Amino acid sequence: MLPRTTATRLFLIVLGLASLLIVFHYYETRVTELEINNRNLEDLVVRMQLQELESRRAHEKRLQVKDDLVIIYNRVPKTASTSFMGIAYDLCKQNGFHVLHINVTGNMHVLTLANQAKFVLNVTQWDSMKPALYHGHMAYVEFSRFGVSQRPIYINLIRKPLDRLVSYYYFLRFGDDFRPHLVRRKHGNKMSFDECVELKQPDCDPDNMWLQIPFFCGHAAGCWEVGNEWALAEAKQNLLRHYMLVGITEELPDFISLLESTLPQFFRGALAHYQNSNRSHLRKTTQKVEPSLETVEAIKQSKVWQMENEFYEFAVEQFHFAKRRAGVSSINAGLSVVGSKDKTLDKAQSQAIQQHFTYEKIRPK
Ligand SMILES: *[C@@H]1O[C@H](CO)[C@@H](O)[C@H](O)[C@H]1NC(C)=O
Ligand SMILES: *[C@@H]1O[C@H](CO)[C@@H](O)[C@H](O)[C@H]1NC(C)=O
Ligand SMILES: *[C@@H]1O[C@H](CO)[C@@H](O)[C@H](O)[C@H]1NC(C)=O
Repeated sequence: MLPRTTATRLFLIVLGLASLLIVFHYYETRVTELEINNRNLEDLVVRMQLQELESRRAHEKRLQVKDDLVIIYNRVPKTASTSFMGIAYDLCKQNGFHVLHINVTGNMHVLTLANQAKFVLNVTQWDSMKPALYHGHMAYVEFSRFGVSQRPIYINLIRKPLDRLVSYYYFLRFGDDFRPHLVRRKHGNKMSFDECVELKQPDCDPDNMWLQIPFFCGHAAGCWEVGNEWALAEAKQNLLRHYMLVGITEELPDFISLLESTLPQFFRGALAHYQNSNRSHLRKTTQKVEPSLETVEAIKQSKVWQMENEFYEFAVEQFHFAKRRAGVSSINAGLSVVGSKDKTLDKAQSQAIQQHFTYEKIRPK
């Protein structure tokens, strides 16, 4: 038998150990609980962070879509395109977009296949230029043929085909008030348009009017074949499917107004600027003489005039429809503004092989 004191001591030790165990178990449980709570909390934080990241990404994507816009204005010579581009150059800095002029070798309107691909990839991938407005005298380029997903917004302006031809005719002889001292190709030739038609000279040949149809038709072979009926149909199709808006020179302020309401990120303030600046008085061809009634009648007999006029009337119908739907009533009409220099499409094909293009007048710097 153990002494009493030893038994008590043993009992106390067992009791102490048991209590320790209980306390240990208690804290162990608490620690596990805390760990679980902690993990839940961590999960929550991670979930919240993910949510925030996602919403930030969505926001960035929205911004990107807006800042990604590319507009292409494949301007037809002698249609007031210089006045219109003047407005874009004046507004680009304050509205936060870039304007780039596409200068093709020898003012050729058709790009080689390789240059089309180069142009399409460059425009699509050149993010530091976006949003951007590209302009140049070239035929419609179909972006989807080159495997890119971004499609630019096409816009254009066209003009009554005979007015355009007459304007071009006098422009080559007398220049305009935009660059009055530049000597033009036919400087010194004083023959009037009427005389030219009477003598059947090449400069007033109705075939020269074959320009607005091919600009809209594009880069297919048939587009540049004077009088091709398929080209006319294709030009109409492209105008409807691929052009956001096509205005007419005779109603330039309405075109500007519609653009301002449709693409305010580019054209905010454009109409007021046009009306208040001297852009609206720019570039009148010097010494232009209106053709006689006989001349007009003679030109109207030609198949090319009839086709180009049909295309013009088609564009007018679409434009007036867009205007009516937007509630735009004519702001003013009767404008005699002209575009920039151009060479008719009698370029040798051999030149196409060395053809290249550059960008210039990029603003703001
Ligand atoms: C286009 O570039 C050529 C040189 O490649 C230059 O001579 C010409 O002046 C440029 N055109 C315009 C409108 O600046
Ligand atoms: C596009 O072309 C220009 C001029 O040739 C060049 O400076 C620019 O880096 C090109 N951009 C891209 C994204 O290829
Ligand atoms: C047009 O206005 C600008 C200022 O907005 C001025 O610098 C320029 O000289 C004017 N041009 C003409 C031809 O009046």
